[in-house]
Amino acid sequence: MIIEPRMRGFICLTAHPDGCAKSVKNQIDYVKSKGHVNGPKRVLVIGASTGFGLASRITSAFGSDAATIGVFFEKEPSIGKTATPGWYNSAAFENEAQKVGLYAKSINGDAFSKEIKQKTIDLIKADLGQIDLIIYSLASPVRLHPETGVLHRSVLKPIGKTFTNKTVDFHTGNVTQVSIEPATQDDIDNTVVVMGGEDWSMWIEAMKNDGVLANGATTIAYSYIGPEVTEAVYRKGTIGKAKDHLEDTAFQITSSLEELNGKAYVSVNKALVTQASSAIPVIPLYISLLYKIMKAEGIHEGCIEQIQRLFSQRLYTGSAVPTDEQGRIRIDDWEMRKDVQEKVKSLWEQATTENLIEIGDLAGYKQDFLNLFGFGFDNVDYAADTNEMVMISSI
Ligand code: NAD
Ligand code: NA
Repeated sequence: MIIEPRMRGFICLTAHPDGCAKSVKNQIDYVKSKGHVNGPKRVLVIGASTGFGLASRITSAFGSDAATIGVFFEKEPSIGKTATPGWYNSAAFENEAQKVGLYAKSINGDAFSKEIKQKTIDLIKADLGQIDLIIYSLASPVRLHPETGVLHRSVLKPIGKTFTNKTVDFHTGNVTQVSIEPATQDDIDNTVVVMGGEDWSMWIEAMKNDGVLANGATTIAYSYIGPEVTEAVYRKGTIGKAKDHLEDTAFQITSSLEELNGKAYVSVNKALVTQASSAIPVIPLYISLLYKIMKAEGIHEGCIEQIQRLFSQRLYTGSAVPTDEQGRIRIDDWEMRKDVQEKVKSLWEQATTENLIEIGDLAGYKQDFLNLFGFGFDNVDYAADTNEMVMISSI
């Protein structure tokens, strides 16, 4: 079929398999261009199909020759209906890994469930024995709790008072005021259950109990801090409470891994266009201004540049892992640079529908958004008839 983007709100309903393959290939080429990193050999990535998780899988495999198992929740294709992008990304990743003889298998299902954890552990036992690095990179709006059977929904709301600020509809470029009512205590609790650290610790606990964690195993989850303008809706909002919980969980996991000499870290990453971040009000406007400035300064990075830097300049340097005073790894250091943030702040005050095209990188935002779904790549023939029924070899 001929596959075109079909936008609805903050998502695109279609994905292009050749474009997703191109995106994966570009990321592999980038990692290879940076040279070998003496990194992990057996890696489990939970949330491996898009965004930071996919970049982590690619960096492990093509930067350090690691065997990888990827867990994700994606929709497979059916005749006349495309898969979700993470499906096509994972199919392309496995193909590229196979070509160079790297072990790569994937599990598609709900990572919050006991079944998927057990299935993953069984696969590790059968194929790899143990794991050296576990990347936890889930972004989900819901979690079916495995013990209680309750379906929890996360929300993106401020806490305490109504938040009013600018936002942009990145499809139209319209800058408007948005007001978001404060969260209830239930909203806060639910968001912490979905995006906090409980499931991360359940994974590590289950793996430890079944003996599939290698001595010295490391686990990493991703967090975000960001600037003052997004604080009320992000870091001091419901999602921020979940990130606080995730960051606290790292210390608990580290203590539970003492006898294994294991360690849990949170890495604070840069704001980037992903399916998860596009749905957060205010963030797209901030990102479009941030991109403009970071590109002008020559310090712009995407997921793959961020994770390659995480591996080569933080985790696997041969020296101690540098962290901030709260024990977090910081690869948001360039985003948070004082000069960068001062410039964003001043652009933020000026931003209107009329000038955003000039002062912000709306085009870059849109390009990245299209790219998430496999659209907008050079050297992909979007007019050609394409096979939507691309399968993942290990599934
Ligand atoms: P993403 O939407 O690109 O990736 C989410 C991944 O989770 C996908 O692989 C998806 O298949 C998987 N997933 C979702 N629900 C699942 C489930 N129930 N079972 C199994 N897999 C499931 O998101 P992302 O932006 O890469 O976010 C990953 C992490 O990075 C999140 O913790 C996020 O908060 C953090 N982070 C994101 C940004 C940003 O700007 N995008 C910045 C800093 C940190
Ligand atoms: Na991810």
